[in-house]
Amino acid sequence: MNQDLVSIDLDRASPLIDAGRLDALAPRVLSARDDLLARRGPGAEFLGWLDLPGRWDDESERIVATAARLRTEIDTLVVVGIGGSYLGARALYEALRFRLRQSGGPRLLFMGHHLEAAAYAELLEELEGCDYAVNVISKSGTTTEPAIAFRLLRRQLEDRFGREGAARRILATTDAARGALHELAAAKGYERFTVPGDVGGRFSVLSPVGLFPLAVAGVDPRRLLAGAAAELERFQRARALRDAPSLLYAALRHLAGDAGLAIEVLASFHPSLHHLAEWWKQLFGESEGKDHQGLFPASVDYTTDLHSLGQYLQDGRRILLETFLAVDRPAAGPLIPEDPDDLDGLDYLAHRPLAEINALALGAVADAHCDGGVPNATVHLPEVEEFALGSLLMFFETAVSVSGRLLGVNPFDQPGVEAYKRNLFRVLGKPGA
Ligand code: PA5
Repeated sequence: MNQDLVSIDLDRASPLIDAGRLDALAPRVLSARDDLLARRGPGAEFLGWLDLPGRWDDESERIVATAARLRTEIDTLVVVGIGGSYLGARALYEALRFRLRQSGGPRLLFMGHHLEAAAYAELLEELEGCDYAVNVISKSGTTTEPAIAFRLLRRQLEDRFGREGAARRILATTDAARGALHELAAAKGYERFTVPGDVGGRFSVLSPVGLFPLAVAGVDPRRLLAGAAAELERFQRARALRDAPSLLYAALRHLAGDAGLAIEVLASFHPSLHHLAEWWKQLFGESEGKDHQGLFPASVDYTTDLHSLGQYLQDGRRILLETFLAVDRPAAGPLIPEDPDDLDGLDYLAHRPLAEINALALGAVADAHCDGGVPNATVHLPEVEEFALGSLLMFFETAVSVSGRLLGVNPFDQPGVEAYKRNLFRVLGKPGA
């Protein structure tokens, strides 16, 4: 089984990242890495995510056992959560969905990440006809969106299966000792999983927050953790930036900011990776966007967005860094069929795999954007499978921890998110808010 880790190609990132600039920045990057590993500096109390790849304990065994049971009992698991409490699970589920659906087992649906009434009505109606369970995930246990979704689902389950029947279909992932969801789950006797107190939402995908729903869907949590552990080890052991691609990526992003660039666009040619980019946006946006700093993280889905945003990328304001997310060994997919009439003029592509055409498109776009003045890097994901995805998650988590520290911010808090939550409580008239 393949054990390749992610890699990064910076050939199209010059002159942003020439050797002189990299050499000058390297001591600061390595020192930020060393502080992180020594658990020093801003946010040191939220570094529990560094322990997750090596963690396999009784709760992990319970996750696997409960997931195996549910895989034989239900057709749908509704994952209720917002931000860091759902984006990681959704990212990996959507990336692997084709394979997971082929292997059978429950599908995942996601709820509680918005407040649109029509969408909720449609989903609740669809769920009436499903044999489903709910995994409600909230670290604080008080976030409005998932709390509303969960109350709606709880009512539907209790109406259908009675209180005890509903309780057997509800699993709560929350703080071990505090919060409304913790109290509710304890009072109702729901099975509970823990959001570690020292792990922030956007760094929690490798904790029960992500591992449980993903295990229900058929993802192998051990392989995911193994990929993350291997990536983390490379980060820990690196003696120079070139030894760990996440250090190079952190340096590139910092140099981009120094050069006056304002936006990083993550570009993938795989719609199945759309939600990976959503997860990435939260990770980088919430970690770096403080004290009026940080690159604004945006994402595009190519080739679709080449026909909408491509013009801007090629020729708009030069404030962009672009990072391509490439898959080195994608599923081959169909071959282009030969057509004796060739009325569409496509026979020059006959017998070529679609995946090859997609890969060639990436190179063509990266060259064009580089020529147009958008420095770009390519992060290579070896394959869309658990080990490589675990490596990718840890690659981004370690990179943003270093790049945030280089900016002088605390990459592990999110005071801006809390401000919005408080305001929402106030306008809704929550008692005590
Ligand atoms: O990263 C974060 O901390 C946030 O995005 C949270 O994950 C999000 O606000 C949900 O919070 P909670 O899990 O407390 O419901």
